[in-house]
Parts: sequence; structure tokens; C-alpha cells
Amino acid sequence: QDLRLARISSAIRVIRDFPKPGILFQDITTLLLDTKAFKDTIDLFVERYKDKEISVVAGVEARGFIFGPPIALAIGAKFVPLRKPKKLPGKVISEEYSLEYGTDKIEMHVGAVEAGERALIIDDLIATGGTLGAAIRLLERVGVHVVECACVIELPELKGRERLGEKPLFVLVSGEA
Ligand code: PRP
Ligand code: MG
Repeated sequence: QDLRLARISSAIRVIRDFPKPGILFQDITTLLLDTKAFKDTIDLFVERYKDKEISVVAGVEARGFIFGPPIALAIGAKFVPLRKPKKLPGKVISEEYSLEYGTDKIEMHVGAVEAGERALIIDDLIATGGTLGAAIRLLERVGVHVVECACVIELPELKGRERLGEKPLFVLVSGEA
């Protein structure tokens, strides 16, 4: 377990001053190049969620689309994309969240989930928690029970966990903000 986590952690590349000066960017593309570390990442989530009766894995655009689908397939759940505005062609519901400057939105197709379903929300990383907070609200608005949120990386200094309220958050590794 610890060996797997150590390998995952070291497969994530940290790039200084991207996209802006002062930001330490956690680059998961190098994790995807390490076939063992990528498989371990998916396996660790699958081991945790396979017996939790989850019917929906919701992934947040863009990087939640990388980790969500293999987990959904392995646990026998459907995959629902939560997308940036104006990308989904059907009727949507949307939820706003605040950024450092201004706001952003994520959207979900109406009819993708039903009230009473049990969901897992997946993203690559939690920073301020704004994105995952909006994802939780979006699913809860349509009566879905969000069992847990899961990310590969948490930046604990940014205290994103506190923005999720009571909702449990599971992460594999931590990074420096
Ligand atoms: C990044 C990351 C998370 C989010 C975390 O996505 O992939 O989704 O920020 O930040 P928060 O906890 O402060 O909300 P980003 O919006 O940069 O876009 P991308 O996934 O489409 O690259
Ligand atoms: Mg993202």
C-alpha cells in the first residue's frame, strides 16, 4: 500500500511557476506515462469503492475524465461527465463556484442521474475545494446521495476539505501548494 502510494507520488511531476508565477503545478500527465503507477492509482480507488453500491461515478472536466471512467467500468457504475459551461448539447443544470477572480460553472445533463442514486465524485486534485463543492451541490440538487469525493492529490495548505462541509474526501497523496 505505502509502496504503491510512494510510487504514485513520485510519478507526479511538479512544475514551478505554471500557469502563473508562484504556482506549483501538479502535473498528472507523468503519472499516466508510468503504467504501474497509473494502474495502482485506479486499483486503489476500485478497492475502496467496489463494494459501496455506487451506481454513478461523476468526473469533473477535464482531468476527472481521465480517472473516472476506468473506475466506473471496474466497479460497474455509469460515468457522468460534469462539464465546463456550454459543452453539453442537451438540457443541463448548472452550478456556480468562485475562483480567485470571478466565478466558473459546471454543468450536468438532465436525466443523467436519478434521485436516490449513490454517487462517487472524482477529480485529479483538490485545491480550494470550489470545484468539488459545486459538483456535490449539483448532484444533491437532483436528489443523488454523494457517498464520497475522491482525488489523487490534495493540497492541504489550501484547506479545500473545509469547503466540502461534512462530505467525506478520500485522497491518495498530498502536495505542496
Ligand atoms: C483544476 C483541477 C481541479 C481544480 C481544483 O482544474 O483539475 O479540477 O482545478 O481546484 P479547486 O479545488 O480550487 O476548485 P482546472 O479548473 O484548472 O481545469 P482542468 O481540469 O480542465 O485542467
Ligand atoms: Mg480540473
